[in-house]
Amino acid sequence: MRRDDFSRRLMRETVLTADDLIYPVFVHEKSGREAIASMPGIERVSIDELLRVGEEAALLRVPALALFPVTPPEAKSLDAAAAWHEDGLVQRAVRALKARFPELGVITDVALDPYTTHGQDGLIDDSGYVVNDATVEALVKQAVSHAQAGADIVAPSDMMDGRIGAVRAAFERDGHIHTRILAYSAKYASAFYGPFRDAVGSAASLGKGNKFTYQMDPGNSDEALREVALDLDEGADMVMVKPGLPYLDIVRRVKQRFGVPTFVYQVSGEYAMLVAAAQNGWLDRRACALEALTSIKRAGADAVLSYFALDAARWLREG
Ligand code: PBG
Repeated sequence: MRRDDFSRRLMRETVLTADDLIYPVFVHEKSGREAIASMPGIERVSIDELLRVGEEAALLRVPALALFPVTPPEAKSLDAAAAWHEDGLVQRAVRALKARFPELGVITDVALDPYTTHGQDGLIDDSGYVVNDATVEALVKQAVSHAQAGADIVAPSDMMDGRIGAVRAAFERDGHIHTRILAYSAKYASAFYGPFRDAVGSAASLGKGNKFTYQMDPGNSDEALREVALDLDEGADMVMVKPGLPYLDIVRRVKQRFGVPTFVYQVSGEYAMLVAAAQNGWLDRRACALEALTSIKRAGADAVLSYFALDAARWLREG
């Protein structure tokens, strides 16, 4: 059965296509592009350059981009107010993309870490503890401002309790009936986010801090199901498991239990370790990236956020 290419193709259960991919993009206030040392091949881009990325994604039929802002230090504050500024970087980036490529899906990240001086995803009290309810109020303002700018999907990645319900209620109140909510439901307190924090510059703010008080413990699995159930109950349209490869058991359980659109984030550290090995000549970049993405889909993912998205779409096209 495996001898010939024709029969292998006929029997293949999982086939990765460009339709499965979402490309995360780092947007900065500077002009042009800037390399990210810990993520070779990935750059921070200006809004002008973002439009070129959008064009490439559209050409390759990658359905959507996910935007992550690189906030200059002077725009950060304790109350993260820059997060819901009408003319903030994300808001301008969304408007520019939607004006030029109305068909391209635009996903925004709802969390305060790019905007807080301490790099936490939420607001902190005097002891440095991230406080849930005050944070949710801020997240709602941020999500509404993204919806007003024209984001197709807002994706709360902060892991506060009750934020999906609060964002959904605000969208209903303001008539944002088409803005979808992708809940980062099972987001683990993972060390694989390191390169991302370099890329957006939150690593310096975070210092020795960690996110253990709100992101999930890597040892837990039943808890992921409870988190997903809560977010669906509160009005999430799609749920996310993050990171990808080390958490495929969670992906499978979530997909099997709930049968809802389940997205997976193949995170910065997963990208970095694969690319680093490839740069040493130890792994085949293309083969390993496509295998990892296919495995994530096989586990149950409907779509994958991946820094390989554009490369993978190109490789799949080349055949
Ligand atoms: C922040 C956020 C993180 C990522 C996406 N949104 C980092 C974190 O939680 O510290 C990580 C993505 C990646 O590593 O590629 N809300």
